[in-house]
Amino acid sequence: MSIEVKNLSYTYAEGTPFETIALKNINWEINEGSLWLVLGKTGSGKTTLIQTLNGLLIPKNGDVIVDDLSIKDQKNDIKIIREKIGIVFQYPENQFFLPTVLEELMYAPKNFNKDISSNDLINILNIVGLNKNFLNRNPFSLSGGEMRKVAIASILSYNPKYIIFDEPTVGLDYEGRKKIWKIIHNLIDIGKTIIIVTHWIDELISFKPNILHIQNNEISYKGEFDNFVLLGENELKKRSILFSKKLKLYYCSLKNNIKLDKLFQY
Ligand SMILES: Nc1ncnc2c1ncn2[C@@H]1O[C@H](COP(=O)(O)OP(=O)(O)OP(=O)(O)O)[C@@H](O)[C@H]1O
Ligand SMILES: [Mg+2]
Repeated sequence: MSIEVKNLSYTYAEGTPFETIALKNINWEINEGSLWLVLGKTGSGKTTLIQTLNGLLIPKNGDVIVDDLSIKDQKNDIKIIREKIGIVFQYPENQFFLPTVLEELMYAPKNFNKDISSNDLINILNIVGLNKNFLNRNPFSLSGGEMRKVAIASILSYNPKYIIFDEPTVGLDYEGRKKIWKIIHNLIDIGKTIIIVTHWIDELISFKPNILHIQNNEISYKGEFDNFVLLGENELKKRSILFSKKLKLYYCSLKNNIKLDKLFQY
């Protein structure tokens, strides 16, 4: 099972003076159980791309096939596709609208006609590092890091098998970012397929994710993490990737075949 992006192009406001090309001819296969980082500088098309994956945006050219279901085929119920793919948007806490965490967590399962037991709820809170005392809290009374965790929990509440994070650590401090990476680590361990849009590549070295890099709205690299790093400083700089000291050290360890894995934990 997989998500297959086929010859996908996307243009906003096509045929008007505001026409903007956001994506050109993207081909990408996300196999179940894999982990991908989507990289690219601002405006390169990352958010547009992830919004096509669950049919929030329907491309005129190309297609996305989710577990054999085309997002363009009118016969397919888009709700079935949406239930498979959860998206945690940038600043997801901006989307809270219910008075308690419990109600926020129950909203999506209700919408998808899915039962959720109190055990499920507690499990989900565990995965994101919260406890049941949070259920009665007003989401707006939480700290920024806790809000982000609740937002992730609200996606886990309907158990999607593919989970997409659009810049999940934006606005969080180092400790907050570490907690989010830990949650993502837990999700990988339970077999979720994960796509992360991020700029923090050097915090994710130990994950060895696959890389999809977009430049000028086209794919400029698709493949394994180590081979991406081995492109070297100049090539990565051309792709607006900061070649931090940590990344440099990792590059040197790869070049010289020295194992320094412990150094690269997030
Ligand atoms: N709703 C919209 N209407 C018109 N143009 C849009 C819309 N959303 C995005 N765009 C344009 O499409 C292009 C790609 O935008 P997108 O948001 O996908 O980029 P991004 O890589 O996610 O950027 P960032 O890193 O800043 O989040 C940009 O030129 C943007 O201005
Ligand atoms: Mg974006």
